[in-house]
Amino acid sequence: MSIETIGIIGGGVMGSGIGQALAVGGAQVTIRDVNDEMIAKSRATIVEGRYGLNRGVERGKTTQEEADAALSRLSWTTDVADLAGVDLIIEAVPEELDLKKKVFAELDEAVKPEAIFASNTSGLAISDINKGVSEARRPRFVGMHFFSPAPVMQLVEIVHAPETAEETIAAIEDLCSRAGKASVRVKDAPGRYGFIANRIYFAAVREAQKVLEEGIASPEDINKAMVYGFKWPIGPLAMIEGATKGWQ
Ligand SMILES: NC(=O)c1ccc[n+]([C@@H]2O[C@H](COP(=O)([O-])OP(=O)(O)OC[C@H]3O[C@@H](n4cnc5c(N)ncnc54)[C@H](O)[C@@H]3O)[C@@H](O)[C@H]2O)c1
Repeated sequence: MSIETIGIIGGGVMGSGIGQALAVGGAQVTIRDVNDEMIAKSRATIVEGRYGLNRGVERGKTTQEEADAALSRLSWTTDVADLAGVDLIIEAVPEELDLKKKVFAELDEAVKPEAIFASNTSGLAISDINKGVSEARRPRFVGMHFFSPAPVMQLVEIVHAPETAEETIAAIEDLCSRAGKASVRVKDAPGRYGFIANRIYFAAVREAQKVLEEGIASPEDINKAMVYGFKWPIGPLAMIEGATKGWQ
């Protein structure tokens, strides 16, 4: 199955970035959020944001024509019914299990049975979230964990539950590669938060916080040590701030 049309649920930091990245990659993307104010915010992030289309043109990452074409492939809605015919749903609402299950239960009714459902959860178990949909949908339910800022970061962790079908994983891998993303496969591991990259990263953050608590270095110098000592693009403490408040 080739994924051509995508519905994104939640146009916040991640949903907007993912929508932009996939529209640049050639997909037709509709972003759903709860009201017009959130939709205006999502559109502004994609058009004028720090990692948005206009800046991409200014920095020579894309041409004006490519940016215009990507924008023409994007639309926004508050109505789930507008997503009925999409090939793939990517959910990016806040990180609360009950909310995600509720959102997917509503989508299970509204979206065609062949569509794949993916959650951008940072670490909740896919085999918990997929309880929101019918058993019939679960082979087409998967984790699709993007990194922030999604238009820039290449990695997507594809998280598969025991019920996830191989064809589902293969279709997501194909979409990732068409959008210039690098994907890795991860087995769902209920009770463990963070898949591959964040588990390793969180271990470094915990140690950075211990160094800070011990009072042996300032936050600025802890960040500087990793940037200049290990060529990290950003220090461990600065990274938390960007990930939670956005990269504006
Ligand atoms: N921020 C990051 O660095 C990062 C990275 C990877 C994954 N994630 C995950 O992505 C998900 C979203 O995170 P975020 O940082 O984008 O959050 P956010 O708060 O920026 O955005 C959430 C959006 O969802 C909308 N929303 C809430 N309920 C909704 C509903 N029922 N239907 C449609 N939209 C709804 C909100 O209005 C908001 O626009 C979380 O699961 C988070 O763990 C975040």
